[in-house]
Amino acid sequence: MYQLSINGMTKQAFLSEFWQKKPLLIKGGFTNFEDPLSAEELAGLAMEEAIESRLITNHEGNWQAHHGPFEDFSKLTETHSTLLVQAVDHWHPTAAALLEPFRFIPNWRIDDLMISFSTPHGGVGPHLDQYDVFIIQGQGKRRWRVGLPDASLKQFTKDKALLQVEQFDAVIDHELEPGDILYIPPGCPHEGYAVENALNYSVGFRAPDQKDLISSFADHIIDEEAGKRRYSDANLNLRSSLGEINTEDKARVRTLLNTLINDDELYSQWLGTFLSQPKHEMDLAPLEDALVADSLTDEISPEDVIYKAGGVRAMYQVLSDKILLSINGDTYQIQNEYLEQVKLLTDETFFSFNEVKPALNSLEFKQTLTTLINDGLYFVEAWS
Ligand code: SIN
Ligand code: CO
Repeated sequence: MYQLSINGMTKQAFLSEFWQKKPLLIKGGFTNFEDPLSAEELAGLAMEEAIESRLITNHEGNWQAHHGPFEDFSKLTETHSTLLVQAVDHWHPTAAALLEPFRFIPNWRIDDLMISFSTPHGGVGPHLDQYDVFIIQGQGKRRWRVGLPDASLKQFTKDKALLQVEQFDAVIDHELEPGDILYIPPGCPHEGYAVENALNYSVGFRAPDQKDLISSFADHIIDEEAGKRRYSDANLNLRSSLGEINTEDKARVRTLLNTLINDDELYSQWLGTFLSQPKHEMDLAPLEDALVADSLTDEISPEDVIYKAGGVRAMYQVLSDKILLSINGDTYQIQNEYLEQVKLLTDETFFSFNEVKPALNSLEFKQTLTTLINDGLYFVEAWS
């Protein structure tokens, strides 16, 4: 278990003063920090087809980016190199535990755990990210500089794949030691160079932009065969210019569009489905012998523990007549009275079968839980 302490500040104080506002150096955020994996294990993950990885080198100022999977690590040179692996939480349960201390921020905002291994002077160069990130220092030391957002900073691409930013003034300039954490809000330029072989863990967050939202919402409308109401103008009056799309026309089209977004059922269904979609591949083990909903209580003992698999995105919305439970891009409908059991699925990493049992009176809940277990999104371990 990793215990986070934010410079003696409450989590609410951090949210009010720093979240999305100012970068923060959290000295000794984790005391006696122990790396959840080794550099060798990270390299092993970077050899897998399904796992996204990159290797960046910067010999004599010459930046080069290579994309995994890697068959060998000859480019991971003794100095000036970094290996980065995305979504390690999907593949490595011990590493996934590093996300838990940050779950004071809603599930849907948390994206994934990226892990990097850098040799001395290795880094990805000065750059901006569009999302919040906590960068945890694991083994070794790395010097980090962080600046404030500055719209005049020019960005440029190195070696086609590496977007960097020009030099910036730092408000944080510090050599991070194991257990230290940097919080960096979106748009703050930053760069980190290893002082000695170093592991860094980046907890990244999601913030979809308007075009992503609107295009996904449009896809949902098409899938649901919704949005068929047509423009109408029964109150049309004669006008002097016929070439104009006038204020009333514009307002009527806007209302037509808003009606769809304001359809709470349609909007909530889409939102949960969209926000719960994982961006990276999952490492799931569907059951070979699928369970049958009606025999769930015969197959699972009350003390057995149900775990959420690594990287599973689970969230819910309470509507007036039901709960929408969204897990990895699928949305299930559950009766409002089973909110406590829905929360076990979304808010906890594990729970005992006994705790969830009251909701098995509901056919919807029972079928949903059976599907989730059969698909490997949740798995059962016998109590030992
Ligand atoms: C890294 O660990 O090298 C990159 C982390 C970041 O700058 O987002
Ligand atoms: Co970054």
